[in-house]
Amino acid sequence: MRRRREVSLPALHPRRILAAGSVLVLAVGPVAFAPAPGPATPTPATTTPATDLGTQLYLEQCASCHGPKGQGSQRGPSLIGVGPASVDFQLSTGRMPLSQEVPQAERRPPVFSAEEISALVGHVGSFGGGGPQIPRVAPGDIVSGRELFAANCAPCHGATGSGAVLTNGWIAPPLYDASAVQVAEALRVGPGLMPAFPSQVLTDRQVDDLTGYVRRLRSERLDQGGEPLGRLGPLAEGLLAWVVVLALLVGAVRWLGRRAGQ
Ligand code: HEC
Ligand code: HEC
Repeated sequence: MRRRREVSLPALHPRRILAAGSVLVLAVGPVAFAPAPGPATPTPATTTPATDLGTQLYLEQCASCHGPKGQGSQRGPSLIGVGPASVDFQLSTGRMPLSQEVPQAERRPPVFSAEEISALVGHVGSFGGGGPQIPRVAPGDIVSGRELFAANCAPCHGATGSGAVLTNGWIAPPLYDASAVQVAEALRVGPGLMPAFPSQVLTDRQVDDLTGYVRRLRSERLDQGGEPLGRLGPLAEGLLAWVVVLALLVGAVRWLGRRAGQ
């Protein structure tokens, strides 16, 4: 399994620092995690009914890879300090729960409802460690967004956001399916090989600008009309228009020529 830890973008990930901090939390943790003094007949921990939705879903769907307290395992990274934005991004884009070990989790229809996702976000948050909050997105400036996109995103996702293959078989996916919040979450979190863009690098307003522009890319693509031309872009369409005009001209000249010869 390819793990995030091998990726060489360590300086950009504030969560690494948080992860270090979380070791401390773990060391002190057992006190906090100890069950409250229960009724006279103690039930074994394994059969205790999960008290809330988040705990229950987590133990059923996530703990086998991420560990019952989010400490991580051979099969999945630690979730301590990844933050609400990361959990919401992974679940709302259907990347998690992973069904089998793959090098890169793919976007799929989400497995959980909005209510279940926020319950899981809450439960993972209870492991401690902070991390980026789910961003609130406001309308942004498309012109500024276009510049920011060209400088920061196009090298991986392509100038039109159609995606590209990166090193090691990783894919920078097309950006047409992500919601505004998911775009902002991806920026703050830096999923997989993508670098995180914390607020020291991109202000909240710049995130709004970028988010607006990425959403615009999607409608521009739809505006480009029919399937065969959809991916060629305006230049190719312009060329095609010229070819059509030329053909008409040639036809007209021939017709005139034939008439003159009669
Ligand atoms: C089969 C094992 C498996 C299961 C089950 C699973 N995960 Fe994961 N999870 C992974 C792996 C492996 C990664 C790293 C993959 C990647 O980066 O593409 C990951 C990454 C994540 C991340 C991103 C962590 C980070 O550092 O940003 C989050 C958040 C997450 N999982 C949450 C969950 C939640 C919540 C569930 C349960 C609903 C779940 N996962 C179920 C294996 C699993
Ligand atoms: C180093 C290459 C790289 C750069 C630079 C980069 N990304 Fe990404 N991006 C990725 C990869 C790889 C993924 C897939 C991560 C995964 O699946 O875990 C991704 C995922 C995403 C997603 C999730 C798409 C979806 O449908 O689920 C969005 C949105 C996104 N990136 C937006 C951006 C924006 C906006 C920028 C510029 C600020 C940017 N990215 C810069 C590599 C990059």
